[in-house]
Amino acid sequence: MSRLFDPLTLRETVLPNRAWVAPMCQYSASDGLVGDWHLQHLGSLATGGFGLVVAEATAVVAEGRITSRDAGLYTDEHVAAWRRITDFVHERGTVIGVQLAHAGRKASTWWPWAEERGYEPPSSAGWQTVGPSPVPFPGLPAPRELTGEQVAAIPELFAAAARRALAAGFDVVEVHAAHGYLLHEFLSPLSNERTDDYGGSLENRMRLPLEVTRAVREVWPAERALLVRISATDWAEGGLTVDESVQLAKELAVAGADLVDVSTGGNVLVDIPVGPGYQVPAARAVREGAGVPVSAVGLVTEPVQAEQILVEGSADAVMVARQALREPRWALRAARELGDERVPWQPQYLRARL
Ligand SMILES: Cc1cc2nc3c(=O)[nH]c(=O)nc-3n(C[C@H](O)[C@H](O)[C@H](O)COP(=O)(O)O)c2cc1C
Repeated sequence: MSRLFDPLTLRETVLPNRAWVAPMCQYSASDGLVGDWHLQHLGSLATGGFGLVVAEATAVVAEGRITSRDAGLYTDEHVAAWRRITDFVHERGTVIGVQLAHAGRKASTWWPWAEERGYEPPSSAGWQTVGPSPVPFPGLPAPRELTGEQVAAIPELFAAAARRALAAGFDVVEVHAAHGYLLHEFLSPLSNERTDDYGGSLENRMRLPLEVTRAVREVWPAERALLVRISATDWAEGGLTVDESVQLAKELAVAGADLVDVSTGGNVLVDIPVGPGYQVPAARAVREGAGVPVSAVGLVTEPVQAEQILVEGSADAVMVARQALREPRWALRAARELGDERVPWQPQYLRARL
């Protein structure tokens, strides 16, 4: 029996194993509404044996979308669109989460395969972006600085989206505080130059992410798991550090997060030493330093590698992103390679089980 296929219980949410699918934007929604593409994408991952599938960054407000094609949970209409997908996933016996997001200064960009690059202007389907300070991400326009009143309204946007996530049937929610989007922009001194209670000291920079986490926790049922994704380091001089992220993770746990999903980078353009498992040391540092459950993500592609990450105590779960696109039933292969039979095959596919 492997560690990868041991269940993990967070509150009363039982994740049947520790091989999870990371959130991945599909840039295929229309006015925030998910459709057939998302059904087949998440549907096929739901037949892949994973213990949790986390649906893509889903905007809590229209201006929080990364692109005009991002998914949303900012109207009740979005609930019904998601419900069709969560019903399908549940019929397969799989647990599904959704990542709640606001893209801040990195919003309103063209989707990756558009002919244009960078900012999609309001003359097309874009909009004026917002952020903690009028500091632009390279290649994008400077965001409008959020007023104190506007900052105070953000936690309720996330809470309202979490209520809709519940109505839409999600088992788990994840707050997106990573990759240079709004909450990470507040955390990092490289994008946050505020002089009010939300800028300056680490305590002030953490204030909004913690308020958001508390607001979501208040409306998210006490028995269901809440995750927060962070970028544990900016990989840059003067940026957010792993030591600060250890503090953050401790506070997130107090605010009601059950697991911290540890990623890195995305707030500034820097060279990141990318290689197999390159973010695992950051996950381990947060797990050991803060004493909170964590997941590790980033170039985890092989079952033995995933198993090793868990056995050595670097993380409590692993997330797989691109390899799950190449191989949506990766977890079924992983179970076979690790000689573990505790993985559910869909009856339609049983004849392929070796
Ligand atoms: C197509 C695609 C879309 C992504 N969208 C998101 C997203 O919505 N939210 C997020 O936190 N990370 C997103 N990511 C990052 C992944 O979740 C993951 O952290 C990253 O790809 C590293 O893992 P990997 O090496 O297994 O791909 C995306 C990655 C890809 C490839």
